[in-house]
Order: sequence, then C-alpha cells, then structure tokens
Amino acid sequence: MKFFIDTANLEQIKEAEALGVLDGVTTNPSLMAKEGITGQENILKHYVDICTIVEGDVSAEVVSTDFDGMVKEGEALAKLHEQIVVKIPMIKEGVKALKYFSDKGIRTNCTLVFSAGQALLAAKAGATYVSPFLGRLDDISTDGLNLISEIRLIYDNYAFDTQILAASIRHTMHVIDCAKLGADVMTGPLSSIEGLLKHPLTDIGLAKFLADYKKGNS
Ligand code: E4P
Repeated sequence: MKFFIDTANLEQIKEAEALGVLDGVTTNPSLMAKEGITGQENILKHYVDICTIVEGDVSAEVVSTDFDGMVKEGEALAKLHEQIVVKIPMIKEGVKALKYFSDKGIRTNCTLVFSAGQALLAAKAGATYVSPFLGRLDDISTDGLNLISEIRLIYDNYAFDTQILAASIRHTMHVIDCAKLGADVMTGPLSSIEGLLKHPLTDIGLAKFLADYKKGNS
C-alpha cells in the first residue's frame, strides 16, 4: 500500500518524508488556498517545490471544467516535473480528458469520485489513479469504506490497472480499513499516518526496558 500525504504544506510534507514511508503527495485547490498559494506562477512553483521534497507522485489539479481547458492545463502541469500526476474531476469533460491523457501517456488521478459507476468510468477512460472520497461519504452517513470494497471488486473482476487511491481519509482507522480492503494507495493528513505507530503497550514496554537497563547499568 502506498502512503500519500494530502496537503500542500511544505513543512508537513518534509516531516512525512523524513519518516521514510512517504510515497507521494496529493493536493487540491482548497489545500493550495489554505497555504496562501495564489497566482499561476506561485502555484506552479509550489508544485515543483513539492516534487523536490518527495520522490513519488505529486497530484496537481486542473481548475478548468471544459475539455480544451483541462488538456491545456494538464499538459502544462505534466511538463513541470516528471513526478506530476494530473488531477481531473469526475465530470463528462473530465472523462474525455482522462482518455486523452491516457492515450498520450500522461498519468492522471480522477478526483471527486463518490460511486462505483464513476470509478468504473474512470478506469475505462484509462485513469492511473481513482480517488474515492471516503471521509466525505461518511460525513453524509454513507459508508465510504463500502465504496472502496465495491471498486476493488470491480477492478479485480476485469483486471483494470487503475489504482484505487483512498482519499478524504480522516483518521488512522480509515487507513487500516482501506489496507484490509486492498486499496492501492491512501492519502490523508500526517496525523492519520503517525497514528499507526501509537500503542500504549509499546510506550509502557519501552519505559520498563529502559528502567531495567538503567538499574543494572548506572
Ligand atoms: C484527495 O485527493 C483530496 O485532496 C482529499 O483527500 C479530500 O479530502 P477532504 O474530504 O478531507 O477535503
């Protein structure tokens, strides 16, 4: 399972990278705005900055909603850096753009996916990644994890290459559940990754080991 961090914050990306288990980064226009990154030049520079911190894939989202606009934007993003994956929304024009980029060998991440049907369409169009937003489904009392298992079943039935990128992860249990269900990738906040290492028995056990060592070696 690949671990992506879902942020445009360079400090958090550096912290996650330092842990040694980071495989990539996902961003979106809201996350960029949260960091105060505005203006085309700054936005593009920020993507390059992220690419220099991590070795893996970096999703950069288009803001156009028409085919021609998405193609123009996506091609410019892909040219920025070899690690860039063009993030395309799951809308009709987006499906056409996914197919276009797939035919050109440009990698894509189909975002804002909330149903198995949308995920099937993204795979048919040749998306590299599909991003089901499980947290946002949970927010409206719909089982986000169920969507991950539905997509896994469909993709396995037909051996689609599209990778399931479990997105909108809110906490550590989401990560574990997605791993059990066979999601290829998770993207979430740093806290969802760091939560994986926590266990009180580890802390208690370590304190005891160190205390016992100190008794015999001081
Ligand atoms: C995915 O690529 C999105 O950026 C993200 O996971 C959305 O998460 P949110 O629902 O917490 O905003």
